[in-house]
Amino acid sequence: MMYTTILTELTDGIFTITINRPDKLNALNKTVIEEISAAMDEVYQNAVIQTVILTGSGPKAFVAGADISEFLSLDADGGAALAQRGQDKVFDKIENCPKPVVAAVNGFALGGGCELAMSCHFRIAAENAKFGQPEVNLGLIPGYGGTQRLIQLIGKGKAIELLLTAHLIDANEAKQLGLVNHVTTAETLLEHTRQILQVIMTKGPNAISRVLGAVNAYFDKSRNGFAAEAKLFGDCFGTTEMKEGVAAFLEKRKADFGGKQHQQRMR
Ligand code: COA
Repeated sequence: MMYTTILTELTDGIFTITINRPDKLNALNKTVIEEISAAMDEVYQNAVIQTVILTGSGPKAFVAGADISEFLSLDADGGAALAQRGQDKVFDKIENCPKPVVAAVNGFALGGGCELAMSCHFRIAAENAKFGQPEVNLGLIPGYGGTQRLIQLIGKGKAIELLLTAHLIDANEAKQLGLVNHVTTAETLLEHTRQILQVIMTKGPNAISRVLGAVNAYFDKSRNGFAAEAKLFGDCFGTTEMKEGVAAFLEKRKADFGGKQHQQRMR
């Protein structure tokens, strides 16, 4: 598919989505939201894609937020619709993706950029990364899930402090708080992220999807996470993947899940 604001590349099962508006620090305008949404549809539909990296182009920014230049023309209904559309089309689609989506944060991840990174399953940051929710500087609050996911990741007290002060934190503080898993140099960020994904891709892909589904069930107030886990555990027993994994253990050999593709949604 042809995109104008993102770049996509598929190598060895890893699909890299690069937000590509470096002159605007990769700010999320309507086109970027539409194109990430379409790229995520590709992720869901293309069985060759096993894992995803989300990153930003240029040395300075992952994403410096929603595109502020689109805000002044909006009224209350327009603002609510903008937020809901983004949540439905991109942020929830990433979080609920049955394939691992990892943010490789290569600079500013502010506002919608921090929210985008938080919608991914986990985050790796370059040492120049900066995170924050500075919306209150604009008389706004986060609209792409920032008030919800920041609490989930770093806890209520620290999340409220960051949301109210608009302070930015660097990669090392983000790691201390549990917002990112690893900090790398800018040069090694993508390679480090790929190495982790390569480990994940040696595992059973349907089991990987079910882990993501069970973890997400914890945060879904309409569901019982323990019951969801038991059901997903049971579902594994119907897969050839599980038979291969268990047989390989008993036969003292390495399991071969190669070529088996993600087929199921997580629910
Ligand atoms: N929306 C729209 N444009 C943005 C943007 C955003 N969120 N963030 C940066 N840009 C644009 C700037 O307007 C500028 O465009 P211009 O060259 O046409 O004037 C360009 O990106 C470069 O940004 P600039 O501010 O000149 O870079 P800087 O290094 O001086 O500052 C930041 C970097 C990230 C501190 C600063 O750009 C910033 O505060 N951005 C907004 C962050 C924010 O509030 N995000 C939440 C939005 S809800």
